Amino acid sequence: MKPLRIALTKGRLEKDTVALLESAGYDCTAIREKGRKLILPVNNGEIDVVLAKAADVITYVENGVCDLGVVGKDTIMENGRSFYEILDLGFGKCRFALAGKAGTNFFSGYNAITIATKYPNVTRNFFEGKGMDIRIIKIEGSVELAPLLGLSDAIVDIVETGSTLKENGLVIIEDNIAPISARLISNTASLKLRKSEIEIIADKMEKERAKMK
Ligand code: PRP
Repeated sequence: MKPLRIALTKGRLEKDTVALLESAGYDCTAIREKGRKLILPVNNGEIDVVLAKAADVITYVENGVCDLGVVGKDTIMENGRSFYEILDLGFGKCRFALAGKAGTNFFSGYNAITIATKYPNVTRNFFEGKGMDIRIIKIEGSVELAPLLGLSDAIVDIVETGSTLKENGLVIIEDNIAPISARLISNTASLKLRKSEIEIIADKMEKERAKMK
């Protein structure tokens, strides 16, 4: 049987995911010594780990070229389509918040409001829930720049420590729009066809996660 394939989100979540896998007994030496390689064997090839950008983790899992994926709830909320979310891994904790320049009254005034964000769908849903009609501008990173440069009235973004907002003179207007953490997701067919293998790794990750709390 071919190895179970897991797509991991590169960057922020990578270190914690590898640490969790290692404490669950998986040998991740190849990932630690990866260089520029993107597909790495774990436990002598029992599992293949694929390193991908967050949204692509979902694409690979949804299309069945990866059985499992580790990705943030933020990316799931923005792109979520058809896959199973099987475990909250407990790390990568942050939340969505609405933030703007200190000293401005966001909800007053009659002019149309412009929001900059990396998460247009999350932002649209949030403001639809408030019955507010807003304009959204998609930004790819360092979203905090948009209100500072006068491109938007506010941002919807993930906040972890709050230092990026603080150091750039921005304040939270509405906090905890949604809590975020890393999730283990599974391709729908894989969860049937490779159920026992998936259960083994998910159980091990869940046990280690409980210990880490
Ligand atoms: C995220 C987010 C904020 C920052 C929040 O950006 O978009 O900018 O982290 O973290 P903090 O509350 O601990 O300061 P990221 O570092 O992922 O980079 P990006 O802005 O280029 O997407």
